[in-house]
Amino acid sequence: MSATIVVLPGDGIGPEVTEAALSVLGACLPIQTREGWIGGAAIDRTGSALPPETLALCTDASAVFLGAVGGPKWEGGTVRPEQGLLGLRRALGVYANLRPARYMGLPTPLKDNLARPANLLVVRDLAGGVYFGEPRGISGNEAVNTWRQTVEQTKAVAEVAFQQARKRRKRVTSVDKANVLEASRLWRSVVIEVAKAYPDVELEHRYVDAMSFEMLQTPHRFDVIVTDNLFGDILSDEAAAVAGSIGLLPSASLGPGPGLYEPVHGSAPEIAGRGIANPVGALLTVSMMLEHALRRPDLARAVELSVLGALREVRTPDIGGNATTAEFTAAVHRQLSWRRWQDQDQPEDEQAPATDWGV
Ligand code: NAD
Ligand code: IPM
Ligand code: MN
Repeated sequence: MSATIVVLPGDGIGPEVTEAALSVLGACLPIQTREGWIGGAAIDRTGSALPPETLALCTDASAVFLGAVGGPKWEGGTVRPEQGLLGLRRALGVYANLRPARYMGLPTPLKDNLARPANLLVVRDLAGGVYFGEPRGISGNEAVNTWRQTVEQTKAVAEVAFQQARKRRKRVTSVDKANVLEASRLWRSVVIEVAKAYPDVELEHRYVDAMSFEMLQTPHRFDVIVTDNLFGDILSDEAAAVAGSIGLLPSASLGPGPGLYEPVHGSAPEIAGRGIANPVGALLTVSMMLEHALRRPDLARAVELSVLGALREVRTPDIGGNATTAEFTAAVHRQLSWRRWQDQDQPEDEQAPATDWGV
């Protein structure tokens, strides 16, 4: 039986990159898809950013692919599109968000010799922190948010980080603000405890302010970066500097049930509808879905290599080219079919070795 993927295109460039992602996923293997509304698209139709029908589809899926949510149209409304995404993460119980970023041979704002060896994996806590803590609210001249971090949340995401480090360069950098925040002090002590079961993995700590600089000054010295919900949101966008555009980064959010697969970027309202969004983040997200949800590391690698190959031919404007989303996606399809043809009579052990996106 083929897997059922729930597809939530969302807002802005979300539907544009989702179309590219689905076409490449469909070229890899037979899948059934069910489409749902989320974010602003769902507010317009139902008044809710995460309608119950969408949630029901997602909990039954093999995996969920989400384009992006949000945009100026819904700013200032009582219901915000972003609530749909946060509600979905919570309902699916996804707690570890893997956000890889590495040099891809593209122009970056960093000096070449700094960016070239960079290969990072941000492991972001999705369950805790200031995103979900209660009480929260705004009234009159005061607004309140609560930064709540539990031992269980921290343990769970730290375990994922150490397991990922074992498959990579065996270094974990834990990022916090333990010099100021109690939530960070708890975070740090739990990470230190979890590390005891991984004596082969080196653990170091950084304060988030210092890390923000060091990550750009010496990105190559970091491997896995484990951090809380808010710091992970910020540092993963910053990590896009080693790749060259926020449009290039994929992500996978893992939990006990169906995983949530989404590019790191948002709905990019200023370029929405122009057909020029970079689909690479979405396509590498498909690669992560093939790896984690569909257990096809071979296809994950084929998609990743095809994307990297296509980037040598054509590029969208955010990375200095003038290709459209469709032109880039067509180049990926050409690479994929060429690869399939080339691999046909190649013995397994002579095929290309696994690459590092395979997290
Ligand atoms: P953004 O990621 O949408 O855009 C930041 C910048 O990167 C913009 O200049 C944009 O044009 C560019 N960009 C982003 N993705 C691109 C792509 N694939 N190709 C080319 N250029 C790309 O972030 P923002 O502007 O801060 O937020 C816009 C909206 O998206 C907000 O409503 C925000 O809440 C939402 N958002 C949603 C998600 C998500 O759904 N996962 C993530 C981040 C932001
Ligand atoms: C992300 C986004 C979301 C977050 C928003 C849209 C809720 O910025 O996925 O990085 O803050 O987690
Ligand atoms: Mn973000």
